[in-house]
Parts: sequence; C-alpha cells; structure tokens
Amino acid sequence: MRKKIVAGNWKMNLSLTEGLELGAAIAGFVKNNPLDNLNGQPDVIMFTPSVYLVPVTEKVAGTPKLSTGAQNCHTELKGAYTGETSVKMIQSAGVINVLVGHSERRSYFGETNEVLAKKVEIALANGVTPMYCCGEVLDERNAGNHFDVVKEQIETGLFWLSEEEFAKTIIAYEPVWAIGTGVTASPEQAQEMHAYIRKLISEKYNPTVAENYTILYGGSCNAKNAAELFANKDVDGGLIGGASLQAEDFCKIIQSF
Ligand code: PGA
Repeated sequence: MRKKIVAGNWKMNLSLTEGLELGAAIAGFVKNNPLDNLNGQPDVIMFTPSVYLVPVTEKVAGTPKLSTGAQNCHTELKGAYTGETSVKMIQSAGVINVLVGHSERRSYFGETNEVLAKKVEIALANGVTPMYCCGEVLDERNAGNHFDVVKEQIETGLFWLSEEEFAKTIIAYEPVWAIGTGVTASPEQAQEMHAYIRKLISEKYNPTVAENYTILYGGSCNAKNAAELFANKDVDGGLIGGASLQAEDFCKIIQSF
C-alpha cells in the first residue's frame, strides 16, 4: 500500500531547547492521536539540523510511526571532510531518513543530479531512506520546461536504481518558486506534476511500483492549504518547511488527509 507521509524540514532554525520542545510536542500529539486512527494513517518525519538529531531522536524514541531524518549527507562514508556528516554516522545515531537534493542544497551548495545519485546510493547501502527532492525554478516553469527539468532530476538521481532499491526511496516534488515564498502550487499544478512523475515511474519500472510509490508535495504547504493539496490522488503528503516549526500548525497538517 502507498504510504502517506507528513515530513517537517526544520532547515537551519530553532535552538536545541526549542527543537526538543517541538519534537516532544509532536510526539505527544502522535501518542494521543495514534496515526493509525487518522484518515490517511500518515507516517511523520522530522528532518532536524544534524546537531540536534541525537537528542531529538532520543526524545521521540518509541513513538509509533514518528521518525527523524538528516537534511543532508556526504557522498563518502568517512574521511577527511571537515564539517560534513556521513550517512554511516546518521545511521549509527539511530536515524532512518535523509533528505537528498533539497533545492537549497542544489542552489547554494552546487549539488548536481550526479552527486545526488551518489548520496542516494550510499544512503540505501546503509539502510537509510533517501527522500529525493526535485522541482523546477520559476523561469523553467514559465518557459514550459518544468516537466523536462523534473524528468532529468529523477532520471539521473534515481532511475539507475533496481526496482527493489527504487521502491525504498521517496520523492518530494518541491517547485522552487513555491519554497518559502508563500506562493503554493495550486492543487491542479501539484496533481499534474505528481501524476507525471508517477507515469515516469510506471514507464521505467512498472505500474505496481508506481501505484505503491510515495510522492510528497513541498513549497509553502501549511495548515490552511494542506487538505486541498493532499486531497489529490497522486499527492501522498507533504514536505513542510516554515509550517513545521510550530507544533500546532504541523499537527494540523498531519490531520489534513
Ligand atoms: P516551505 O519549505 O514549506 O517553507 O516553503 C519547504 C521546503 O523547503 O522543504
């Protein structure tokens, strides 16, 4: 069955105390409102800053269907890469998810589809689930190139995987023009791209893989618009930035299926 997910991307925000409070509030909500009882039965992931991964993971340990994730990892497992975090470290800290290719990593840190393919590979090889982000910038959409851009990102980043490996990944479609701007993709725009991505998966692998695959929407998704975005048949949840920093808003989004 296709998994529904609501994921929060805290980015470079919050103090440790605030992060622990937020994690505890979300875990408390999930314990009082078991996710299996909610419509859509979502899983919840919190992508925290790397320095908070251990304490937040410990704080929420044992909460069913709630897990943590890193926002990035290096392409190598260890070595002289000052300032970097390897997926082996992430895994050894009990963390089971990693974001790969967020648009901020692509634009500010020059991460290419080829580099991201290596991150996907190393994450899967170490039992960490990569959530692969893709999405076009505004000029690309205005030029009508958004489908081609996303296709290239997914083909290079993911489509070299075996069917079994690919099925362990998650895609988050995040139009760059919608991230942090308050301009959300319309439900129609989100559904159109998600259906397109699912078609690509079906053609590359097969209809069963495509049908069971989770594709999230991200970009100014919040407590007010989540329900109409998630109501689309190919939108399986969201990757939430700004609105994941307030427990109340984030918990409303969790209930938006
Ligand atoms: P936003 O960020 O919800 O603040 O637009 C989403 C993201 O960058 O993942």
